[in-house]
Amino acid sequence: MPNIKKIYIYPFILTTILASYIITFSSCKQEQHLSIYDIQKQVIEDSAMVVTAHPLATKAGIEILKQGGNAIDAAIAVQFALTVVYPRAGNIGGGGFMIYRSKDNEVNTLDFREKAPLSASKNMYLDSLGNVIEGLSRNGHLAVGVPGVVDGMIKAHQKYGSIKDFGKLLEPAIRYAQEGIILSEGEAQHYNKYQEDFKKFNTQKNVFYSKKNKGQLFKQPELAATLIRIKEKGEAGFYEGTTADLLVAEMQRSNGIITHEDLKKYDAVWRTPLQEPYKNYTIISMPPPSSGGIALCQLLNIIEEFPLSEYQFHSKEHIHLFAEAERRVYADRATHLGDSDFWTVPKDSLLSDFYLDQRMQSFNPNKATPSDSIQAGNIVINESEETTHFSIVDVQGNAVSITTTLNSNYGSKVVVGGAGFFLNNEMDDFSAKPGVPNQFGLVGNEANAIAPEKRMLSSMTPTIILKDDQLFMVVGTPGGSTIITSVFQTFTNVAEFGMNLKDAVHSNRFHAQWLPDQIYIEEESSFSKELINELKQMGHQIETREPIGRVDAILVLPDGQLEGVADRRGEDHAEGY
Ligand code: DON
Repeated sequence: MPNIKKIYIYPFILTTILASYIITFSSCKQEQHLSIYDIQKQVIEDSAMVVTAHPLATKAGIEILKQGGNAIDAAIAVQFALTVVYPRAGNIGGGGFMIYRSKDNEVNTLDFREKAPLSASKNMYLDSLGNVIEGLSRNGHLAVGVPGVVDGMIKAHQKYGSIKDFGKLLEPAIRYAQEGIILSEGEAQHYNKYQEDFKKFNTQKNVFYSKKNKGQLFKQPELAATLIRIKEKGEAGFYEGTTADLLVAEMQRSNGIITHEDLKKYDAVWRTPLQEPYKNYTIISMPPPSSGGIALCQLLNIIEEFPLSEYQFHSKEHIHLFAEAERRVYADRATHLGDSDFWTVPKDSLLSDFYLDQRMQSFNPNKATPSDSIQAGNIVINESEETTHFSIVDVQGNAVSITTTLNSNYGSKVVVGGAGFFLNNEMDDFSAKPGVPNQFGLVGNEANAIAPEKRMLSSMTPTIILKDDQLFMVVGTPGGSTIITSVFQTFTNVAEFGMNLKDAVHSNRFHAQWLPDQIYIEEESSFSKELINELKQMGHQIETREPIGRVDAILVLPDGQLEGVADRRGEDHAEGY
């Protein structure tokens, strides 16, 4: 008997079948009872696994895997499907990073991060007095970086795809856009929350304008037409021709600066992965222009010296050590990290034992180090709230970890008129002015200053982890500056605190990032009053905040089975076979 949960459900029968499905997972607090999809938060399967932020995106990946596609093919199908079913973050108007490891241990990373337009300039978000103009890098046409997703997916397919016809990989997405998808209550509420912004920052009406309801069939014909152009013409279906014309016209109807030349020049780049040891694990992660890989590896290097497994989970020793390591690492990020095509990132120094030992010289196990007494480290050696993550392992054992984003929810809120997709507001990830925080409270400096064609610094941390040289974990999350610390905690929860993947992903998280000088903890959390008082007595400032991250991860179990876990914090869905 086929398991009903595993049957692929075509959109045209969604109306009749899915309406009767009520969310079944018990631990999802935020969107409990809001989903109409049969969401699986944890599954264990023999051969292949897809975990994404939306059930229909997961199913697009499974569909392609079952047609004989490999993990890369499935990832491409998921990326395009997310554009339709999860447009707050899934996108063709944005960018991202991919970590790939083949079954034969070939490792690679693809940087399809957005770039600053050719006419962007260092002070473009400042007024005549040199002050940052509030919101200009976050909303509207001037906030948009040149999108990288379509070029990224094409490059990934050319190098590693196994289904020859690229267009096939867009079929699930096109079907969802043409035939429509049923909106869950969570999705409908999310669209409704942003109605005012959609109206304020758009120059033309579009399908996102009107109020949405749970159970509504939502079609996106303009987006379907755009996807069909990409299916038929590849690169030229997006960066040239009708789509490019529509995008440039959209820019010109307001204060946007992306031109045809910007689109034509966009180039995704294969970069050498960061590979760092941690005990008997190998961390494979993203080099600049993401700060994620370097920061994660710095954190792991720092904590390796401490008897972490002797600490109790979420004890004051655990939280204090992590927060102290994090404030030093984020101070380094602010000064030393930027797009390595434009700025010399002292990667080897930042990751050296000597340097990190020096950074922790001021660590006091009983007392917080105030952030204003911490600066970025001296490099002595000269060296030449929306994103989404998905994790895939195919039947052969190839693994893909992709984090992809428009930056904020629905990016700049600008929809390309006539083309049906949202554009990013990734320009806010640059440092608009030294020391002035961006939307994630992150400060930056010269290393991350705006320059034409430069990529803005990211925190995205798609990661693949090996244990004893074998595939162990595929992991990543959205969450802006909290991405790095969420991946850090998920991995250490398993490796050091002996948790199974489900507990590691679902347990409450905390976060520190140098400035502001705070430890953030999740609301309704398991952090006891006594613990919070103890941390305060040590000098930490504690603040509760909204959920941190949405980790979608896969763990290879000792018997070779795959455990897929989708974060309880959303409608994320794991499925395999
Ligand atoms: O690249 C970055 O670090 C940010 N643009 C990511 C934004 C993000 O994760 C928002 N999600 N909640």
